[in-house]
Amino acid sequence: MKAVLIPGDGIGREIVGSVTRLSEALGTGIEWETYEAGAEYAAETGALLQPGLEQAVTASGWALKGPTATPIGGGFRSVNVMLRQMFTTYANLRPVQSVPGVVTRYSDVDLVIVRENTEDLYKGIEYMVTDDIANGVKLITREASERICRFAFDYARKNGRKKVTCIHKANIQKLTDGLFLRSFRKVAEEYPELEANDVIIDAFCMKLVQDPAQFDVLVAPNLYGDIISDLCAGLVGGLGFAPSANIGDTVRIYEAVHGSAPDIAGQNKANPTALLLAFGMMLRDLGMADKAARLEEAIFAVLREGKTVTADVGGQASTTAFTEAVAARL
Ligand code: NAI
Repeated sequence: MKAVLIPGDGIGREIVGSVTRLSEALGTGIEWETYEAGAEYAAETGALLQPGLEQAVTASGWALKGPTATPIGGGFRSVNVMLRQMFTTYANLRPVQSVPGVVTRYSDVDLVIVRENTEDLYKGIEYMVTDDIANGVKLITREASERICRFAFDYARKNGRKKVTCIHKANIQKLTDGLFLRSFRKVAEEYPELEANDVIIDAFCMKLVQDPAQFDVLVAPNLYGDIISDLCAGLVGGLGFAPSANIGDTVRIYEAVHGSAPDIAGQNKANPTALLLAFGMMLRDLGMADKAARLEEAIFAVLREGKTVTADVGGQASTTAFTEAVAARL
C-alpha cells in the first residue's frame, strides 16, 4: 500500500529516516511517497505545501509527518493546523504511557488524550480592533464538540477503558466551554457503561501531577488539549515519547507531539521514539498489530538496556545508532 511521508522541518528528516528504515526491516510493504511541507520548503519555494500533497494524501488516506516549524507572533500560518483543517482530521488521539526503561516520578501512567483538532482559538480568527487592542475568536460548535466527545467515548468503549473526563473552563467561558461541556454530558448518556466526569483545567493540572492514575481517557477542546498533551508527556519522560494521530473520516496523519527541535536539528541527536510510536499506532490501524508490537518491544528493549539511547534520556547514541539498535532487536 501507498502512504504519504512528510519529512517537515528541523529534526523531521532525521526521525522520519528511522521510520522508513524500520518499516523496511519489519517488512510492512508500505510504499512511501515523499512530499515536502513546512518552513524550510517555504524558504526555498515560497509555498508551504508541495503541489500534489493534498491529492496524494486524499488518494492514500494515510500519512506520517515530521514536525513543521511555525514562526511566533507573525509570519505564515501553522502547517499542522492547515493540514488538520484541510483533511478534517477532527480528532487528535494522544496516548501517554510510562515507557519501560525511562525512569520518571511515576511508573504507572496510562492516559489517552482526545483533543478537538479543528476549531477553538486555532481557527486563527484574530484581528486588531485598534492599534492597541487585539481580539481572537474562540469558536466552539455543537457539531464539532459532539463529534469529538463521541470519538472519545467510542475509543473508550472499543479499547476497554473505564472513564472519560472532560477538561474545560466552563465556569469562566460560560458560552464556549459551556457548550463543549453540555455536548459532553449529552453524548455521555449514550455510553451508560462508562464513567463520565469533568474537571476544570486548572484543577486538572494539579490533580494530574499529584496522581495521574485517577485519570483514564481525557477529552478537551483544542487549546487545552494542546497544553495538557505536553504536561502529560512530561510525566512519562518528555516529548521524545509522545506519539499522536490526527484522525478524520477518510484521512489519518500520524506524527510526534514534539516540534522541529531547531536546537538539535542536523546533529543526528534526536530521539525518534515518539515518531516510531506514532508509526506503531499507524501499523495497528492498518491491521498490522503484530508488527506494531514487535516494533514497540524492540524500542522498549533498547531503552531498558540503556546502552544505545539518545542524549535526552541520558545517553550518547545518535539517532541512527538508536535506530540500528532497534532494527537489530526486531
Ligand atoms: P520542540 O518540541 O521542537 O522542542 C522543545 C525541546 O524538546 C527542545 O529542547 C528540543 O530539543 C527537545 N526535543 C523535542 N523533540 C525532541 C526529540 N525527538 N528528541 C530529543 N529532544 C527533543 O518545541 P519548540 O522548540 O517550542 O518548537 C520548535 C518548532 O516546532 C516551532 O516552530 C513550533 O511551531 C514547531 N512545532 C511543531 C509541531 C508539529 O509539527 N506537530 C508541534 C510543536 C511545535
